[in-house]
Amino acid sequence: MTSPLSSAARSDLLARGYSRRSFGRIATLLAAGATVHALTKSAHAAILPSGINFEGMTRLGSNECWTGPFPEAAQAGASSVFQSNRYDPTGHMRDDLIKAASDVEGLPESHVMTWCGSSDPLARAIVTFCSPTRGLVTADPSYEAGWVAADWLKIPLARVPLSAKGGYRTDVRAMLAADPNAGVYYICSPNNPTGTLTPLRDIAWLVEHKPKGSVVLVDEAYIHFSEAPSAVELVAKNKDVVVLRTFSKMFAMAGMRLGLTFARSDLHEAMMRYDGKSATAMLPVPAMACGTMSLTMKSAIAARRQEMIAARNMTFQHLRKRGIHFIPSDANMFVIDWKKPAEPIKDAFLQQKVVIGRSWPVWPNASRITVGSMDEMKIFCTALDRIIA
Ligand SMILES: Cc1ncc(COP(=O)(O)O)c(C=O)c1O
Repeated sequence: MTSPLSSAARSDLLARGYSRRSFGRIATLLAAGATVHALTKSAHAAILPSGINFEGMTRLGSNECWTGPFPEAAQAGASSVFQSNRYDPTGHMRDDLIKAASDVEGLPESHVMTWCGSSDPLARAIVTFCSPTRGLVTADPSYEAGWVAADWLKIPLARVPLSAKGGYRTDVRAMLAADPNAGVYYICSPNNPTGTLTPLRDIAWLVEHKPKGSVVLVDEAYIHFSEAPSAVELVAKNKDVVVLRTFSKMFAMAGMRLGLTFARSDLHEAMMRYDGKSATAMLPVPAMACGTMSLTMKSAIAARRQEMIAARNMTFQHLRKRGIHFIPSDANMFVIDWKKPAEPIKDAFLQQKVVIGRSWPVWPNASRITVGSMDEMKIFCTALDRIIA
């Protein structure tokens, strides 16, 4: 079977140390619409558990937003459905999205790229900047999509533990020491699952000390839930940084599929090498309409952040009262350490019609909890009191 990758893409991959045998795997990973989770049954099941009827359940398992898109933005998306017979009803919907992002972030439009969510550019950055000789370095626990991609493509992977001593912050110096010649240093800030931030000065240190030809990939899926400064500042200075953003969290558009990356145009062009143009150019019309408006809604973003913080604070207060150990978080998720295996506790919550998040292999006694609405978090606290008597 011939590879769906172009001959230029195949030559480039061979020159970078990939084998011919990896072409099929790379094409699968980057196929339009494919997410890395689909590659392994277990990862997919952990994220989207099958066989659960979500009817009547309190869903605190998948880091989705507890409510829908901002109503005005949702209205813009709904109206655009009627013109969705066209690929781009106005002829400049994608340009409008890029312009809105460039204005909000203070970046040139040349540094903004559009995607159907952020899973594709995450995988694509790993294919582009890693290889069998240039590895991937991440924290552990952290968002595992990169681990799945690295495993799939036989890319060396180094995972650097988050430790209590460092306040569960990503240790950038240990990351560089773990692989001084990596292709990608992935930093999720706030981190999934801990919600802990990596200070911008640490990210800047890594950017200054990392090896030539590598990038620091900063995943800011949850940045709007914190007030921390974005690594976009480093992109504006034309550093070797790619910032990932998704509309799946604060903007509550997980089911609409929209994402952005911010990077120097030569880095984006490198990511386009493996037939990436179609992944960036064709976007769902309602997602573009809803997302473009959402980006600019500063006060709605701040209000939603405050709503989440109030629900999180109430929950933390309850956990403190109960003497249950948790890691303080700057995002719409946090980790509870049950001090005993988490899996039976997760099942006990399911019996109470509450879906909580998964555990990471490195912390089998801990669960990730997504922050829902105030009412949902009260339901969570009541269920907890029944389970941990
Ligand atoms: C840290 C992080 N990055 C990326 C994603 C992927 O988001 P999407 O593909 O919906 O844009 C997620 C989803 O949960 C995430 O938690």
